[in-house]
Amino acid sequence: MNIFNSLGSNYDWRFVLKALFAKNKESYSANLKNLLEKKYNGEVLLAYKGRQAIELTLEILNLPKESFIAINGFTCVAVFNSIRKAGFEPVCLDLQDSGGLNFTPDSLEKTLSKNKKISAVIIQNTLGYPCDIEGILAICKRHNLILIEDLAHCVGTRYPNGKETGTMGDFVVLSFSQDKIIDSVSGGALVIRNKKYFDKGNSLGGLSKPPPMWIFRDRIYPFETYKIRAAYKLGLGKPYHFLLKKLGLLPNVMNQSFYDYYSLPNWHASLALYQFKHLDTQLNHRRKIAQIYVSLLPENILMFAKEKNKEAVSLSSNLRFPIFVENRSKLIRKLKDQGVYISDVWYTDVAPQCPNAVDDSKMILNLPTHINITEKDAKNISLIINQWLKSQ
Ligand SMILES: Cc1ncc(COP(=O)(O)O)c(C=O)c1O
Repeated sequence: MNIFNSLGSNYDWRFVLKALFAKNKESYSANLKNLLEKKYNGEVLLAYKGRQAIELTLEILNLPKESFIAINGFTCVAVFNSIRKAGFEPVCLDLQDSGGLNFTPDSLEKTLSKNKKISAVIIQNTLGYPCDIEGILAICKRHNLILIEDLAHCVGTRYPNGKETGTMGDFVVLSFSQDKIIDSVSGGALVIRNKKYFDKGNSLGGLSKPPPMWIFRDRIYPFETYKIRAAYKLGLGKPYHFLLKKLGLLPNVMNQSFYDYYSLPNWHASLALYQFKHLDTQLNHRRKIAQIYVSLLPENILMFAKEKNKEAVSLSSNLRFPIFVENRSKLIRKLKDQGVYISDVWYTDVAPQCPNAVDDSKMILNLPTHINITEKDAKNISLIINQWLKSQ
């Protein structure tokens, strides 16, 4: 068994070939825009990265200079940085006490009472788990705040009220970058849903094309990462990965230039369209795998009590399945010994002022749910974890 959480592990062979040979037809971008316009009911701008879509949103809003933007305390550094790049200050809201990876209406209300300069709120439905949208929306309406739904993790998630993510906010931002639900190697989009801001996107001017080297790296990424993963079986994966990095042939997600504005190449749009076409299959698969983890793993390492977790999984896009363990690095090593490489725990440097987010960031381990994880893999991973827990 050789299993990865990232490194292109969620691509299939058709996708690898598509990435290598997809044509650069303008109709792909037009079709992607059309799909997003209909799905999320608004005006669409495509960009090269999700973080650029966040910046573009803040630019369109034209907020007063000293505005603050409320965000989840447990989030990606790209969210922080894109807010700062747009000239504003992020305010981190802590996660709910009762478990869960989102902030609550209560913590939003409390923060608003202390900070009168918050103008907009970004919700992200972390790892696909839906937040309390009704409560948050009601507060945004009461305080006249703009609500931005960040769908980087949660395309296809349903809120507890039955509505799909991306159908409630004033703006929707999407990331189609590596390891997301809709993954076209790179990509992002912004949907303006609030009519007050329609046509404001036009005033931004055209976005320039990404540098050719970035495009080349994206083209080969699915194929090269396939080779890295395959070479792990022969003990050559790590050196090959290292070599590609050294040669600058793999995209670096920390690239500071990713915060500048670039357009989405047409062929990336064709990959995003391919992924939207298979979205339901993907979501059903992820849900099935996540439910296996809920059934087989003990309740004390799950995010919620079993029944509640089952319910949450049934709504979630299940980008990954979080568990929470002490001695996480030991479990990571144990899994690695069995060919399960899931050390990329994502958010480690989180907001120090949010104690729940800090605690979770030390204990969280995200189990894979992508299309290349079979039911047997999920059962084996659960077995390894259960054996490890007993040995502790
Ligand atoms: C919640 C969230 N929003 C936005 C982004 C930014 O996406 P991108 O890498 O496409 O800029 C990320 C990146 O992982 C993310 O996790």
